[in-house]
Amino acid sequence: MPTSPLRFADGALELLDQTLLPGEERWLRCERPEQVADAIRRLAVRGAPAIGVACAYALALAGPDFEQAAALLGSTRPTAVNLRWAIDHGRGVFESGGSLLEWARQVERDQVEADRRMAEHATALLSPGSRIFTHCNSGALATAGLGTGGGAIEAAWRAGLVEHVWVGETRPLLQGARLTAWELGRAGVPFQVVTDSSAGALMARGLVDAVMVGADRIAANGDVANKIGTYTLAVLADRHGVPLHVVAPLSTVDPATPSGAAIPIEERDPSEVVAGLPALNYAFDVTPYELVTSIVTEAGALSPPFTEL
Ligand code: MRU
Repeated sequence: MPTSPLRFADGALELLDQTLLPGEERWLRCERPEQVADAIRRLAVRGAPAIGVACAYALALAGPDFEQAAALLGSTRPTAVNLRWAIDHGRGVFESGGSLLEWARQVERDQVEADRRMAEHATALLSPGSRIFTHCNSGALATAGLGTGGGAIEAAWRAGLVEHVWVGETRPLLQGARLTAWELGRAGVPFQVVTDSSAGALMARGLVDAVMVGADRIAANGDVANKIGTYTLAVLADRHGVPLHVVAPLSTVDPATPSGAAIPIEERDPSEVVAGLPALNYAFDVTPYELVTSIVTEAGALSPPFTEL
């Protein structure tokens, strides 16, 4: 079974502290929305869909202080649109007097089901013997279900289609080397961690058959914001004729953002990547839709120009 990054028990949201993995499996108990907001900000819980689910439970913990909690949670991370999606939907439930806890549980169940469907659709895009390059972590830890890109890779491996997975280490917090490697290792999927700068060399040697990643926000025209370095992979994949598949739930698609130029890009503290030196630490980049071979949602796989989004 994939490891879920969160669970709701005894009136609190418990989060697996992803900053400590793979060395330590410690659960954080959050009884108030401020604690969840802090966990989201420091990447103890991360990955766009998981942030959305955690935010839904945090709103359920807010009681009558819904708007205060919504403002705080909404300020934690600007790029992943699932956060705003959860706040907008949660507000509707709050204003109609519904149970936010029941709704949050449904958001989690829906994510699990969406992940299952995405994995099915994405698996159909791969051929037997695939050597897949993935970036960041888009497995179970990033969603609360099977995962998006990572869930699809694992499902495809179970279907006998995956020969090898290249895991880009991923800055700032080594989400690939720490989290994706941990998940693939537990599942028994054959993989090797590589430095992010190895991708071009691997593709040039013909060792990559597909790139598969998740997304933090997909604009209405199909431009994709994902972990910094995804754009570089997309340019390299295009140069080498390697398909790039983006796997993300419909809650990551933002019809209100016309193109990637309008997606806010989170800039994090330089101390996360270097000590005592001036540094610029962008958390995400934008891949233009022309470089994306497929966008796979729970509704199916789309190809450019993504007019059906
Ligand atoms: O900064 P993070 O670790 O939250 O970034 C996560 C990613 O970029 C993932 O690839 C993205 O959220 C999709 S995961 C289902």
